[in-house]
Amino acid sequence: MDHIHLKVQTSVVTPSDNLTLGIETSCDETAAAVVRGGREILSNVVATQDDLHAVFGGVVPEIASRRHTEVVTMIVDKALREAQVALADIDLVAATQGPGLVGSLLVGVSAAKGIAISYGLPLVGVNHLEGHVMSNFVAPPGQPPPAQELFPTLCLLASGGHTSLILMNWFGHYKLLGETRDDAAGEALDKAARLLDLGYPGGPAIEQAAAGGDPQAIPLPRPRIEGSLDFSFSGLKTALARHVDEHGVSGTGNVADLAASFQEAVVDTLTRNVAAAVQQHRVKQVIMAGGVAANQALRRSLTALGRSRGTPVAYPPLELCTDNAAMVAAAGYFTVQREGPSDLAMDVFSSLPLTH
Ligand code: KG4
Ligand code: ZN
Repeated sequence: MDHIHLKVQTSVVTPSDNLTLGIETSCDETAAAVVRGGREILSNVVATQDDLHAVFGGVVPEIASRRHTEVVTMIVDKALREAQVALADIDLVAATQGPGLVGSLLVGVSAAKGIAISYGLPLVGVNHLEGHVMSNFVAPPGQPPPAQELFPTLCLLASGGHTSLILMNWFGHYKLLGETRDDAAGEALDKAARLLDLGYPGGPAIEQAAAGGDPQAIPLPRPRIEGSLDFSFSGLKTALARHVDEHGVSGTGNVADLAASFQEAVVDTLTRNVAAAVQQHRVKQVIMAGGVAANQALRRSLTALGRSRGTPVAYPPLELCTDNAAMVAAAGYFTVQREGPSDLAMDVFSSLPLTH
């Protein structure tokens, strides 16, 4: 492990740069980032804990928070170094306040409070879901962000903990159009991967295994909830489990077909509700966010939908789809502008709705 040091460094930024230090520890990634003016990513450091949790087939909260505690200072230091700034240059500290694992959130929020108090900086608590949305509106200096400022924008947020359709009327103004009634899309992929013995995290494992498979090989349902934009994935997972129970898994060819069929069913289910929401709400743009937005089949499906409707579709680069702190810094910057800073006594929340 690197030596931990938070030292004053030579800075290349000017006092008007409006630098936000973002800290994200809501689940099993320890992340820190420096973002200029809410939009330009100067650094984005993520330490994943996948190796620690893989053996358990899912995140173990106690192990996650302990690891966050061990590395958070070093990750913040690395983000500052990569951005070539010092804590003394920072204007705002943003940390994910929820939703997430309470023990994990507490580590990031406590680190942020410590920095805010020591340097006399404003602190802001960020909604992790808003962070994911904002990952479409940030980019490294000189590069355009993935999404345009076209509103209303529809965001499909699909991760391990959430599957939501969010109507965004402006930064900070969100309406929840639909969400999952049971498993999240990423959770369904993780459970399917476990059933097929493909390892954790399941989404990338399913995607990789599906590459050589036939998505039409196994008939699986496309669960729908009549008259609603909500999702349900638990029946799909049960259908796969039943198929595996009845027919077993035989050889890599069969695993590939099962993975491809399951992935296709998830992608179809997500795409169908996005198509309905685009139509019902006359959206000007569709954006994707969350770990499942890293999935190429989903990206292709929504891009094709957008082309057929004449609606632009955007998604963040892979490293911004999964949990990161650049999105938290960006969301923090906009949150402070509309609500002011948070109280230094701010708490963390396992669930926190997006209600603006
Ligand atoms: O956003 P994220 O990093 O963490 C949460 O906030 O949950 O999302 C993690 C989820 C996991 O369920 C993982 O299996 C899924 O995103 N995921 C993917 C891919 N990469 C990550 N799902 C499908 N295809 C991928 N390439
Ligand atoms: Zn997330």
